[in-house]
Amino acid sequence: MMHQPSASGRRKSSLKPWMIAIIIAAVVVGLAIITSLPVYFLVFDQKFHYYLTSFQIPSIEYSPDFSVEYSKNRTDLKQKISNQIDEIFQRSNLNRHYIKSHAFNFRSSNNDLKTDVLLKFQFAPNKADTVKRQADDILHQKLKLNESFLKIDTPLPYLRDMNEAKAEHILHSYCGLGRELPSMERIADGSVAKKADWPWQASLQVDGVHFCGASLISEEWLLTAAHCFDNYKNPKLWMASFGTTLSPPLMRREVQSIIIHENYAAHKHDDDIAAVKLSTPVIFSDEVHRVCLPDATFEALPESKVFVTGWGALKANGHFPNTLREVKVEIISNDICNRVSVYGGAVSSGMICAGFLRGKLDACEGDSGGPLVIARDRNIWYLIGIVSWGIDCGKENKPGVYTKVTRYRDWIKSKTNI
Ligand code: ARG
Repeated sequence: MMHQPSASGRRKSSLKPWMIAIIIAAVVVGLAIITSLPVYFLVFDQKFHYYLTSFQIPSIEYSPDFSVEYSKNRTDLKQKISNQIDEIFQRSNLNRHYIKSHAFNFRSSNNDLKTDVLLKFQFAPNKADTVKRQADDILHQKLKLNESFLKIDTPLPYLRDMNEAKAEHILHSYCGLGRELPSMERIADGSVAKKADWPWQASLQVDGVHFCGASLISEEWLLTAAHCFDNYKNPKLWMASFGTTLSPPLMRREVQSIIIHENYAAHKHDDDIAAVKLSTPVIFSDEVHRVCLPDATFEALPESKVFVTGWGALKANGHFPNTLREVKVEIISNDICNRVSVYGGAVSSGMICAGFLRGKLDACEGDSGGPLVIARDRNIWYLIGIVSWGIDCGKENKPGVYTKVTRYRDWIKSKTNI
């Protein structure tokens, strides 16, 4: 048999022109991808950028009220400032890059009112210098020409960079930012809550079992009902969980201390309020942050639309859901709630009723301690009630009864300094 030099024959056949063409094409495509990646990130990878600026408001005199976090003056002025800045940037060529503004500090300088405002933009890194310069120009021009109530008092450049962590902390320290009211759909027997709609809602648990709801009022304080602790008073037994699902929880914290109202008597309904301190503060985010507390003088009028949320039973003796639920109810006056056919005088001035006399929509077992909230300014929510008691759930003439938060505003301040 004749021996053939097969190796060289094979090598010859592996270098066919069409194969070389494929290899070249692959190399070209590969190089193109590698070289265009940085360009892609530079142009299309939009990032958030934060700037700090200050304005003078000569038309308004400084009053200490502007430094009181929940005062009506402060809330109204903050909204007015945001509206003005929204309008300026939304009508400019930066409208695609502008996200929002947030006035977070008010102070007096030579008897004038001054405010510090955080601006949030989104754009690709290659635009950083241009956008900042344009934003500076736009503010400068609009506030100079317009008869705006905002005046710029800082020398150019007006905008100072702020790092993301610090800026987001300021933005999230904003209380009560939850569900946007206009997008609200009709709710029948209550419905599942969306993420970030009620971010102050917490679950208080013993041995991983949900017992009560609670509301975040700061990074480390929760407000709940005193009766949640009728059986277990030791803070070490308790855990707080956050996020819309009980399992898995988004975040968990141990409880450091429980402060029960001094006048609360177990198995009675009066002064059903407690403050719970967490061992370590939560980290505020879109899905976890605090609700606003109304002034002591705030009155929720009868028939106001309010929301109650919780992981309580879906009906008396019914099963407990894993995902947070919400239900829209109405404030019922104490006069009506104390009618003989309703609670016949059991509703004291430290309580507030919400629900419907025709029944059906209500909180239930396991919702206790949870929030009853009302919206002000579209999507800023205030805690007005704490789920406390009721006869049965959703029964005719037996609406839910809540601890009236405004009645305990000073107590809350004295215990938590909030
Ligand atoms: N006491 C109940 C609890 O511990 C809450 C009752 C609320 N009832 C009602 N019908 N709104 O969870």
